[in-house]
Amino acid sequence: MPFRAYLISSTPEGVHAAFTMLDDDGLDPGDVTVRVQYASINYKDALAATGKGRIIRRFPCVGGIDASGIVEASGSPRFQPGDAVIVHGHGFGVSHHGGYAARARAPAAWINKVPAGMSTLDAITLGVAGYTAALGIDAMELNGLAPHKGKVLVNGATGGVASVSIDLLAQRGYDVVAVTGKPQEAQYLRELGAAEVIASADLAAGDKPLEPALWQGAVDSLGGAPLSALTRTMRKDGVIASIGNAAGLEFTTSVMPFILRGVRLLGINSDNEPEVRERVWQRLASDLKPKHLAAIARVIPFDELPQAIAAVIGGRARGRTVVRMAD
Ligand SMILES: NC(=O)c1ccc[n+]([C@@H]2O[C@H](COP(=O)([O-])OP(=O)(O)OC[C@H]3O[C@@H](n4cnc5c(N)ncnc54)[C@H](OP(=O)(O)O)[C@@H]3O)[C@@H](O)[C@H]2O)c1
Repeated sequence: MPFRAYLISSTPEGVHAAFTMLDDDGLDPGDVTVRVQYASINYKDALAATGKGRIIRRFPCVGGIDASGIVEASGSPRFQPGDAVIVHGHGFGVSHHGGYAARARAPAAWINKVPAGMSTLDAITLGVAGYTAALGIDAMELNGLAPHKGKVLVNGATGGVASVSIDLLAQRGYDVVAVTGKPQEAQYLRELGAAEVIASADLAAGDKPLEPALWQGAVDSLGGAPLSALTRTMRKDGVIASIGNAAGLEFTTSVMPFILRGVRLLGINSDNEPEVRERVWQRLASDLKPKHLAAIARVIPFDELPQAIAAVIGGRARGRTVVRMAD
């Protein structure tokens, strides 16, 4: 039975994304076939669908780097028909058809059961963004982050990774400082748990190798100049989770923060082995459970995907944009 999909193709004029019809024979190989209920729009999805980033590694490709739904068929002992699952990571939506379709098929290693007590809507509101936020906090805590040690900065604060990070950190008792290019969203950020909201334009950033030491931790979605400034303003033994590059790929700094303040720069990559994925998803359902998913999610119908992608690229989105694929 044919179903609708949002397919990203390469044409002589450039990358082109459009709705099309697909059937099961057109899906890529995998152990598990899922009836997709929800997908989402991550920054990477917006770059992929518009061709503004060289994300897609196999054309044509159904976009969508995460999806949640119900298992229809499984060749893996880990999953049974009827299981609620979340799919993300590795080639999904990049080199293997992804979540922007009524059905998806993927290797079992790219799939987790939705933890008990979580709905498929909760799971996709977290999605890759929430999983990565939890992974970053997990890594920072393993490197000494603790609620009593001082302020934790979260930049690109209205974004998906950042919104979930603020929620998770605040519910664990951290003193969270949100830094945003959209100061008009201060109320939203405070609702998620930020104790302080700073407009990125007002964040003083000198250019000395070491600037006043302010933060014990930082969740960085931006890279570029904001990451450079972070390295120079961390407190002794401060930890930075380097997650994204929305402001730039490259940054400059000196070794001074690392050798004089013991600053730790932790690279966070969400393509993990099944054991790590299981542990992090279980944390998201227990000691790292978010409290504000309803405020973070904006749910749109599949029809509105192209306009919503344009809003993400145009910097007009907030939190997580969830795409409802089926009722
Ligand atoms: N390492 C991994 O495995 C992994 C996993 C997931 C995501 N990521 C990366 O993490 C980053 C964030 O992803 P996301 O899905 O949360 O994206 P998002 O929802 O689009 O959020 C990005 C936020 O960054 C800020 N921003 C956007 N463009 C900017 C620019 N040119 N200069 C400065 N700030 C800018 C905006 O926040 P404000 O307006 O509030 O400042 C925006 O809301 C992306 O680079 C993504 O690729 C990496």
